[in-house]
Amino acid sequence: MNKIQTVGVIGAGTMGNGIAQACAVSGLQVVMVDINEAAVQKGLATVAASLDRLLKKEKITAADKDATLARISVSTDYAALTNAQLVIEAATENLELKIKILRQLDGMLPADTLVATNTSSIGITQLAAVTGRPDRFIGMHFFNPVPMMALVEIIRGLQTSDATHAAVHAMALTLGKTPITVKNAPGFVVNRILVPMINEAFFVLAEGLATAEDIDAGMKLGCNHPIGPLALADLVGLDVCLAVMNVYMAEFNDGKYRPCPLLKEMVAAGYLGRKTGRGVYSY
Ligand SMILES: NC(=O)c1ccc[n+]([C@@H]2O[C@H](COP(=O)([O-])OP(=O)(O)OC[C@H]3O[C@@H](n4cnc5c(N)ncnc54)[C@H](O)[C@@H]3O)[C@@H](O)[C@H]2O)c1
Repeated sequence: MNKIQTVGVIGAGTMGNGIAQACAVSGLQVVMVDINEAAVQKGLATVAASLDRLLKKEKITAADKDATLARISVSTDYAALTNAQLVIEAATENLELKIKILRQLDGMLPADTLVATNTSSIGITQLAAVTGRPDRFIGMHFFNPVPMMALVEIIRGLQTSDATHAAVHAMALTLGKTPITVKNAPGFVVNRILVPMINEAFFVLAEGLATAEDIDAGMKLGCNHPIGPLALADLVGLDVCLAVMNVYMAEFNDGKYRPCPLLKEMVAAGYLGRKTGRGVYSY
């Protein structure tokens, strides 16, 4: 298998531009693709602004910034991805869209190109099955903001080969990340534990056991979490938390994943968190 020197990134949004930046900072060549010129330019501007902040904090030099940006090229044409040894799909979270993108890639990428997806909620085994390269397909679940967060969950579908896993694991180390290897299952590892914890915090709040402030203070000070679960729910979006619980409930068919009625009620009211100015807290 060829060493990964050029990475293709599909989607220039929150995660795509973060992945592009992390790769370019580590010396890899990057081709970032999105659906239109405005989207790729916005992604590129986000990377430049992020590098500017690092420059201001004297974490990188002006020469580092220029060299990093020079390693990222952008396109609205998937044909630009054909020189990549690994293509990471980080487009909008939508099953039909991802299937369409993966089929499109199959037709144009060389047979030995590895393809990864950054999906948070779609099964890796299921996506691998729609590609013509199921053994060369894998999950690479980065965390937001990608340049800052050390973790990458590497998710093996049932079909993923050892060689694909080894190449992607090595590539994550090249990025200075700490990879953990996970078998495919809803929520992988981190969200499987995190989101039910947030859901439980809503049960504790609904039962009136403590105020929201005290629940969050308890988890921050008692567990050394940097943010309380309810404040985190506001940050993630209550609708996103509810959607994840609904997936676990449907997939595992186990009552321990029952979404908290208060969480459902707040989502129904449009209290989605920071993005709507009101969630558990007001902003
Ligand atoms: N945001 C997070 O915290 C987070 C964390 C981990 C994983 N993820 C996953 O990462 C993926 C991307 O999420 P995001 O938050 O960056 O979304 P986003 O909305 O910020 O960006 C998605 C980008 O994909 C582009 N896109 C849509 N269709 C495309 C196509 N056919 N070809 C190329 N680009 C296309 C959109 O134009 C947009 O720029 C999703 O699968 C999501 O589940 C998100």
